[in-house]
Amino acid sequence: MEAIFTVEWMKQVARQARAEGRLIGFVPTMGALHEGHLSLVRAARQQCQPVVVSIFVNPKQFGPSEDFSKYPRPIEADRAVLEAQRVEFLFAPTPAEMYPDGFRTHVSVEGLTERLEGRSRPGHFRGVTTVVLKLLEIVQPHLAYFGRKDAQQARVIRQMVRDLNLDTEIVVCPIVREPDGLAMSSRNAYLKPDERCAATVLFRALGTARQEIAAGERDAVRLVAAMRKLIDAEPLATADYVEIVDADTFEPVSRLRRGCLGLLAVFIGTTRLIDNMLVEEVEDSGSSFRVSL
Ligand code: PAJ
Repeated sequence: MEAIFTVEWMKQVARQARAEGRLIGFVPTMGALHEGHLSLVRAARQQCQPVVVSIFVNPKQFGPSEDFSKYPRPIEADRAVLEAQRVEFLFAPTPAEMYPDGFRTHVSVEGLTERLEGRSRPGHFRGVTTVVLKLLEIVQPHLAYFGRKDAQQARVIRQMVRDLNLDTEIVVCPIVREPDGLAMSSRNAYLKPDERCAATVLFRALGTARQEIAAGERDAVRLVAAMRKLIDAEPLATADYVEIVDADTFEPVSRLRRGCLGLLAVFIGTTRLIDNMLVEEVEDSGSSFRVSL
């Protein structure tokens, strides 16, 4: 694996790969890599050659009181993991390389970014879309891989790619979970042992909703109430939001419809975790739903 630290070098490598007619697959990350990230790397590996993984803890997507400075940065372990996956290129720029003095341009997607994660984390999506647009311009990938773990982020990026006519296809991959259901996340490392136990409440809440849907419940308000009840019963957990939204508009729905997402953000102590389930109508079934956790 070749590690690349500058924008110019990365662009040159990308130009060369494109000139050779190769298919560039790209996995943007903030590092502290886990199986969730690696599932994206494997998906890229199956379709593309070379695979480029970026590790960049993007200061612009963290709020002033968020965890930018304490975000884990185990760079040597991450390098070893990517070597083992036979990744061709690691792109790991410094903040000064990405945002040199005098940097002034930001991109934001309207509407979709104002609710849920956007409301709880003002400026977050503006930071995400700005860095992802820059990364796509630098790496020039044919395909870029994102996780459904961050469902709103994936939707916002798809919108940006469509609106700005970018030449990258966005691939969204399933959520990878720990054996007890907790969605893998670099932030899980913050959890103390009792918090780690409590953190399964997100998965348990989604599981309750899935059961109720299987039993015939179609009312989104009642499903949300059932999820909230479970979270409220967990002493270490505080719900930030619990919603069922249309998978396209991210607006709340009152009844289940063709494609919806059940989305949760929950504080476990001071650590904020998110999770979601995809609820899709089974075609030609006369309103039976498939729930993917
Ligand atoms: P990060 O949180 O490191 O996540 C990188 C990618 O891995 C994202 O697409 C995320 O959805 C995916 N991912 C994380 N946990 C996952 C899991 N348990 N299962 C499946 N996929 C998972 O998301 C970001 O970084 C940043 O916002 C970034 C896009 C890199 C821009 O800075």
